[in-house]
Amino acid sequence: MTTKGFLRPVTRRAMLSGTAGAATFIATSPLHSPAIAQNAPLKVGMMLPYTGTYAKLGQFIDDGFRLYVEQKGGKLGGRDIAFVQVDDESKPEAATDNMNRLVGREKADVVVGTVHSGVAMAMVKVARDTKTLLIIPNAGANDATGPACAPNIFRTSFSNWQSTYPMGKVMADAGIKNVVTITWRYTAGAEMIGAFAENFTKNGGKIVADLTVPFPEVEFQALITQIAQLKPDAVFSFFAGGGAVKFVKDYAAAGLNKTIPLYGAGFLTDGTIEAQGEAAKGIRTTLHYADNLDNPANLAFLKAFKAKTGKDGDIYAVQGYDGAALLDIGLTAVGGDFNARDKMIAAMGAAKINSPRGPLSFNKAHNPIQNIYLREVRNGRNEMISIAQADVDDPARGCKMT
Ligand code: PHB
Repeated sequence: MTTKGFLRPVTRRAMLSGTAGAATFIATSPLHSPAIAQNAPLKVGMMLPYTGTYAKLGQFIDDGFRLYVEQKGGKLGGRDIAFVQVDDESKPEAATDNMNRLVGREKADVVVGTVHSGVAMAMVKVARDTKTLLIIPNAGANDATGPACAPNIFRTSFSNWQSTYPMGKVMADAGIKNVVTITWRYTAGAEMIGAFAENFTKNGGKIVADLTVPFPEVEFQALITQIAQLKPDAVFSFFAGGGAVKFVKDYAAAGLNKTIPLYGAGFLTDGTIEAQGEAAKGIRTTLHYADNLDNPANLAFLKAFKAKTGKDGDIYAVQGYDGAALLDIGLTAVGGDFNARDKMIAAMGAAKINSPRGPLSFNKAHNPIQNIYLREVRNGRNEMISIAQADVDDPARGCKMT
């Protein structure tokens, strides 16, 4: 694992034992001492997948977060920021141990993580028990801003429900009647397919079959054969990262992209489009971002991200960037005094961020309220076609903020 960013890397390793296997903690900070004094650096624990099918997603979130901090001269709300990071490998079974180490031994003040819904829910539990401030920069698990919502838990990404619900109506309005769904068999897949199906069937559509493979497997051939036999009007899918690259390529290699249009949650083609090449052409998805959003914040973000990393920014980088912006708003409201917790949390809850994705605010469960865009892969980019649904607010079912 490598460390990057504006701070000179200082390496400290701690091996984990038990079911978690071995995890590596890397501190990238000018100081290792616990952040007790108000002028000591605030320690941000990055718990993300740096390996496995979601590795690129984790790295882009990390890069986006650090880009914002760099733009603020290494400080948020006037407070120096130090980092410690852990590779969660998208393994829910290791998540509780990893999170406990971050808030225990590593004494992280704030944890930023993660990508995978199952890992995130284990983090949410520890954050609730220890009252650690947690900023979720991707994982969409509905429960995190539903029954498990808490004042100290914020999300700068989306709920799984939010990202795909609008597509149900879009596809029904396009005259599509019969759909086969396909995804990984875990929380994110089930919730994204569920929200799509909720709206699609409400608008007269029919789900012909729900196909799944275990996460993170990528043996799609048998299911692709099944889709060819079922001949639906369209396919709706959720895959992301390395798995999405493989699925889109396999779908095209079987020739299905010519006969059965492929739709999905935007993660299918975000951060993956370059590797998918021609196979991604014409895929339509919904997401809270599009590459060609022509607002000044997005143009400036894409330019700065490219200058820092040499890469094109995507939704993951934006979610990391906005995570740092949200923390900045909280810390600025209290002049960097992390102990003024209630005031800081109130400021974060009331934040209105001029995000590269467009206007971003938060509901009472601390989940984003944001536009969901209909996009199509054109010219090797996820280009916006329309706003599928404006200011989408997750219903926050079961959330009781205490
Ligand atoms: C999730 O597990 O919540 C998840 C993972 C990857 C994505 C989106 C959601 O791209």
